[in-house]
Amino acid sequence: MVREVIDAERVRRRIGEMAVQVAADYAGTEPVFVGVLNGAAQFMLEVIGRLPAVLQERLLYDFVQVSSYQGRANRDQVSLHRECGVEVRDQDVLVFEGIVDTGRTVERVLETLGARGPRSLRVCTFLDKPSRRRCPVPVDYCGFSIPDLFVVGFGLDQDQRYRALRYIGVVE
Ligand code: IMP
Ligand code: MG
Repeated sequence: MVREVIDAERVRRRIGEMAVQVAADYAGTEPVFVGVLNGAAQFMLEVIGRLPAVLQERLLYDFVQVSSYQGRANRDQVSLHRECGVEVRDQDVLVFEGIVDTGRTVERVLETLGARGPRSLRVCTFLDKPSRRRCPVPVDYCGFSIPDLFVVGFGLDQDQRYRALRYIGVVE
């Protein structure tokens, strides 16, 4: 059973607000949006769907994929499986993530994209769990800040399940 913690209407409303903010900040630019698979796919495409047509006409988007593994000395490492295929040099790049937990994933993605010389590089996450942070990463846009709970829905999974939910919940 999944207990709802953020209902579908609040999710929908917040996506709308985030789209307004992103549209204002990226007005007149040709940004590159980069989603972190799989968790951010739904979130990024829904934000894109709510942007004004002028920005939809100009923006480019692609996805990267990463995976975490236990590295040496039991330290969690994050490796990149899929690179962003869109040119990011001198571009305004916005990374979309489903949830920022320890920050390691976003840190790794920012490191790789940053090395390719974008003009600007920002982070837009649907959820943030600040109490779990290990790597201090910048979060420029955040849908909801949540306590230390393992949540599912709206792209986020538990063993690949529940990504398609329209709301955020906790499996009980
Ligand atoms: P980080 O590298 O620790 O920030 O973790 C980010 C990744 O861990 C996310 O992209 C998710 O795949 C996963 N993750 C962290 N917390 C949750 C959660 O509450 N629900 C589902 N996935 C999570
Ligand atoms: Mg996952």
